[in-house]
This record gives sequence, structure tokens and C-alpha cells, in this order.
Amino acid sequence: MSEQMQVQLDDRHPTDHEPSTIAAESTSCSGDSTSSSTSSSSTSSSPSSVSSPSRTSSYSVQIEKTQVSASHFRKIRILGKGDVGRVYLVEEKQTKKLYALKVLNKKEMVKRNKVKRAFAEQAILSNAHHPFIVPLHHSFQSADYLYFCLEYCVGGEFFLALQQRPGKVLREHEARFYAAEVIAALEYLHLHGLIYRDLKPENILLHQSGHLMLSDFDLSVRSPAVRSPTIVHSSISSLFSAQPMLDTRSCSDVRTNSFVGTEEYLAPEVIRGEGHTSTVDWWTLGILVFEMIFGYTPFKGTNRHDTFDRILTLPLEFPYFGGNPYFNGTDASGACKSCIRKLLHKNENKRLGARAGASEVKSHPFFKSINFALLRHMRPPILPSRQARPIDAVHFKNIKESVSFELEDDHSPSSSHPPSSPIPMPLNDKNTESSTDDPFADFDSVTVIRPSQ
Ligand code: ADE
Repeated sequence: MSEQMQVQLDDRHPTDHEPSTIAAESTSCSGDSTSSSTSSSSTSSSPSSVSSPSRTSSYSVQIEKTQVSASHFRKIRILGKGDVGRVYLVEEKQTKKLYALKVLNKKEMVKRNKVKRAFAEQAILSNAHHPFIVPLHHSFQSADYLYFCLEYCVGGEFFLALQQRPGKVLREHEARFYAAEVIAALEYLHLHGLIYRDLKPENILLHQSGHLMLSDFDLSVRSPAVRSPTIVHSSISSLFSAQPMLDTRSCSDVRTNSFVGTEEYLAPEVIRGEGHTSTVDWWTLGILVFEMIFGYTPFKGTNRHDTFDRILTLPLEFPYFGGNPYFNGTDASGACKSCIRKLLHKNENKRLGARAGASEVKSHPFFKSINFALLRHMRPPILPSRQARPIDAVHFKNIKESVSFELEDDHSPSSSHPPSSPIPMPLNDKNTESSTDDPFADFDSVTVIRPSQ
């Protein structure tokens, strides 16, 4: 294994959201493949937003320059902690609305070479508008921190919800529901030339409605050129439907070499370091479906080297019973196993989704009962408690904040404020054309206005 392999890996099941990304630019492709939206509080703009809104080139959202700062929010509690930042449950003082505020420490980002990732995450989140992608409401910076003000997902991490199920597993139809929502979100991203690259239960949040939302786009990468969807004429032997399909892999031509992702979820081609395409997202979907149904990931080894070795060489095996209390001695269905097996094809060119992207995955018999256009109207299997108040954040782990962070103390609205001590320039992380020495000079403070639901 190369040295490069060791560098950008996340540990499995960190205690929080660890932000980490690759830079991205804006795209000029549009089209939302899913019909409706889930955000319950997405159209408000901050009381202190300024300047006239400009229509962005894509994704159908409006972006305004903003003067929002940390002092507009009241901190309620910490929700998550990572190496360069924390996520807080906050209340906007004027509207009393709850948000999740992701606070990234500029110095730590420079130290850990994660500046580009924050820019990428902002570019993606500020343009995205999809029911299964966490909406960004504002992003801004102070002298020492970057802030992402996100929709608060009351149901918390899908990972925790899964851990709390008997046997840490879901019934097959429940797993199918979440897999379908993930496919819808990945289809949207791929159509916009983005590869998500970090699908795992920790990066899936549960909205108040019970529908899922993908979060953490810091590992996502964008295609430099986005091509329009094309029609693929299927051959029955390789696809499940004789109907022509829409090839939604707008980013299929992107090959990227970065070694990123989460150990147990890494695709073989990522480990081999040969470059990878959007097909890596279908591999990670296969691992996710397996984990939801059987309660563990299929290639987990005794250590990192062993795990990689298994991913590269070990044939996929299904447990008969898998410790899953719902199966009552029966097995996962043939369609379910076939879908997982095809998603976990070690040859990326033969993997389900390699030919026509999401439409190919949706056409697998495992998803026959799913009406993708009506997903948002289906009743989710896990519903966040209706008794508990959202402000009590009952679906989150209790995390100790070693050093208390006070939003009230951080008044400076922009990078024009000098940092409390100089931020060193990143060594090989030149993400901007800026003439200043501030690597965050081009981080825009924006308010995102999404179309009303
Ligand atoms: N953790 C990270 N982002 C979050 C969000 N948007 N809602 C709840 N918890 C989160």
C-alpha cells in the first residue's frame, strides 16, 4: 500500500462529523430529478441580509450576500465534534428558529490542509436544492472561524438510529426505503457533476419528517465539465429493463485520484489508487445496504491493511441469519442479495450503475416496489420522537465540550477583521487567486434562498 493511502482516511464511526473535502467550482448544469422538497424552514432570509439577490447558474436557488454573524445566534448545545470544528444546535435570536451551526477553526483547517474542503463544501451546499440533501441557509466567516448554518435535522445521525434498533439492523423493506432516498440524492449530485465519495451512516441525518438528508460534502469532488444526460439503450443481459434509460452520470468522465473515504466503505479502485469515477458511490451504497440489513460491513478486517486486503480480494459472502432478529431464521431475499452483489462488484466497469448511473440502479428488481417520484410522500420507517421538543435534541449523543465556545464573543462578520493571531498560508493548498495572504479571503458570506415549497 502506498503512503498516500494513509493520509486522508477517516476513522470509522467517529464520535462526530469530521469535516474534510476537496475543492469545487460552480457548475452550469440544472435539473432536479426528485419532485418535491422536505425542508420545513428553508425560505427565510436573515434579517440582516443585504444587496439584491442574484440568480445562480444552477440548482435553482438564489444566493444573497449576507451580513449574518455568529452573534445573531444563541448557542443551545453541542451536537458533534471533529478535528477542525464542531456542530452546535443554535437558535436564531430574532426568529427563534433552530439551526445546526457548523463552526470550523481556520487555523486547524490550514494545519490539516483542509482549506479547499471547506470551499468545496460551501460551493456544493450553497447551490444544492434537493429534498434529501441538508439545506444550507447561511455561510459566513469571522476572523478565526468559518460558519455553515444548516437546517437542523432533529432525528440526528442515521448511524445512531441504526445502533438503537434491535440487532442494529433494519427489515429489508426499511433498508430499501433509505437506499431509495440515497439513490435519489446521488442521482441529483451525479447529474450536477458531483461525486459524493463519503456515503456512510454517520453522514446521513434524519429530518424531523423521518426522511433522510445527506450531509458532509467535504470529500465530494466536482467534474470540470458536466455533460448532459443521454439515453442508453439497454441489452437485457446487462440491464434489468429492456426500456431505454437515462444515463444520469454527468460526471462519469471525471477520474480523480484522491485517496478519500471511510476505510470499510472504500471501493477497490480507490484503494488501488488508479483513479475513480461516480461509480464509487454505487459501491458505497452496496456497503450501506449490506450494513443496514446484516448489522456489519462485509469487508471489515482486524486492521486497516486487512480491511483493504479483503475489499480487494475477498469474495462477498452473505450470512445466513446475520444476527438479524427480524429474519426469524429466513434469509434476505434473492433480489436484495442480487442488488448488493451487483453494487459490490469489484470491477467498477461491471458494477450496477456503471452503464447508466442511478436509473440503472433504480431498475434493479430490489427497487420494484418503490415509486421514486413519490418517495417524499412515503412514511419513513423511523420517525423522530413527537413528544420530545426539538430543542432537547434527544436523538443526539451527549458530547462534552472541553473548551467552551461562545458565539456571542465572535462578532466580526468578515475576513476584513484580522485574525486574533496570523493564519499561516497553506503549504500546498492554494485554493484561491487572491492577492492577499489570507487563504479564506474568497470565502463568501452568503444567504441561500430556496424556492418556496
Ligand atoms: N450534525 C451535523 N449537521 C447537522 C444538522 N444539519 N442537523 C443536526 N445535526 C447535525
